[in-house]
Amino acid sequence: MRAPHTFSIKNFGCQMNVYDGARMGELLAGEGMTVALEADADLVVLNTCHIRERAVEKVYSDIGRLRRDDGSSPMIAVAGCVAQAEGAEIPLRAREVDIVVGPQAYHNLPALVRQVAGGKRALDLDLPGLEKFGVLPKRARQSGPTAFLTIQEGCDKFCTYCVVPYTRGAEISRPMTAILDEARALIDAGAVEITLLGQNVNAWANDDFGFHDLLIALDKLPGLKRLRYTTSHPNDMTEGLIRAHAEVGKLMPFLHLPVQSGNDRILKVMNRNHTTASYLAVIDRVYAARPDIAVSGDFIVGFPGETEAEFANTLHIVEQVGYAQAYSFKYSSRPGTPAATMADQIAPDVMDERLQRLQSVINAQQMAFNSRHVGTTTEILLERKGRLAGQLIGKTPWLQSVHVTDADAKIGDMIHVHIDSTGPNSLAGRPVTAKELHVA
Ligand code: 5AD
Ligand code: SF4
Repeated sequence: MRAPHTFSIKNFGCQMNVYDGARMGELLAGEGMTVALEADADLVVLNTCHIRERAVEKVYSDIGRLRRDDGSSPMIAVAGCVAQAEGAEIPLRAREVDIVVGPQAYHNLPALVRQVAGGKRALDLDLPGLEKFGVLPKRARQSGPTAFLTIQEGCDKFCTYCVVPYTRGAEISRPMTAILDEARALIDAGAVEITLLGQNVNAWANDDFGFHDLLIALDKLPGLKRLRYTTSHPNDMTEGLIRAHAEVGKLMPFLHLPVQSGNDRILKVMNRNHTTASYLAVIDRVYAARPDIAVSGDFIVGFPGETEAEFANTLHIVEQVGYAQAYSFKYSSRPGTPAATMADQIAPDVMDERLQRLQSVINAQQMAFNSRHVGTTTEILLERKGRLAGQLIGKTPWLQSVHVTDADAKIGDMIHVHIDSTGPNSLAGRPVTAKELHVA
């Protein structure tokens, strides 16, 4: 197979994959390759997700679709968590695949590509920890004003349903100086908002520094306007971090804090190591520190053995917390995890029905949260163009999307808008002039 000149990267799954995909792109561009559409690219990277079964199936159907009309295939690399979990099985199931590279080995992609061009299939599933961060090129020009920055990777918590501790490896935290350097490079490249990423981002710790120290240090960077982080574990919500939500000026009032279930027996079997009471106590302290904070969460319905009454506890905790938004999933049995072999796996139709009930409560809460902002004036960061002519889409501090038209502004600007109305997923606003703002 000839050496590729063009590439295309498709990301599945979480925001860390978006980050990894961007870094793979920078790496390949540094090798002199240019970006192309998937249908034309010499090399296609599928950056995969293993968290739920459907995500895995999508990858295999995508591989099949990459075959060209003339019967040829591009060079295909499977990266990400499916690569780590399925490894050498992948080319057995999909013979078109040339490269299998795990989430901690993708800095070796150029070498793997050369190996394939030399006629050999290439597999790299090492989990060397921080190595890739030292090897990857400096951050390139940003395509928009927001950027992701991985500060922590991996998980030691071993929730019984979850593949992450196996696919992303043990928890590692990048050094403070490396993170500050990358943040400065992102700001130089045009980012004004940085979202810190980690599977357990708030477990970040390095030398004597805790996560809140990192937030305080990042807050001081000139040119940075907004700071966010995701995803957190309730047990790592320290006093310092909660205080940071009151005191760190650039930290946005948004917290994604998954609870997964509202029932203590289920939480125990999930090995979450927290209870509903300890979760609610954290939420209370967060609301006390930052009363306007938007709380988001993740839920799994139909975990093995979940009874109707236990599921009702999940509906109850949603009512108690009052989420601004939340993600909910049907439990998906993942090979190799402890929950996969537990008794009493729940029937799909029961899961469907529970998911629908949960989502209707969450949707109503999201609508209520958004409705509370109608009639207020808020500052948004313009992130991208809308579908209509002259329309721009920006984000509020609480991560809501706002559509505006006729704004005398461009992507990357922060503008004040009056929120006129809300739909289920986004708000509509109109720009407020400096004079109006002053009067208000
Ligand atoms: N089945 C369903 N949902 C899962 N999640 C993680 N593993 C599974 C699984 N096996 C969900 C959790 C987690 C989110 C990223 O995905 O809610 O917080
Ligand atoms: Fe998975 Fe639990 Fe770790 Fe989150 S904390 S990545 S759900 S094992």
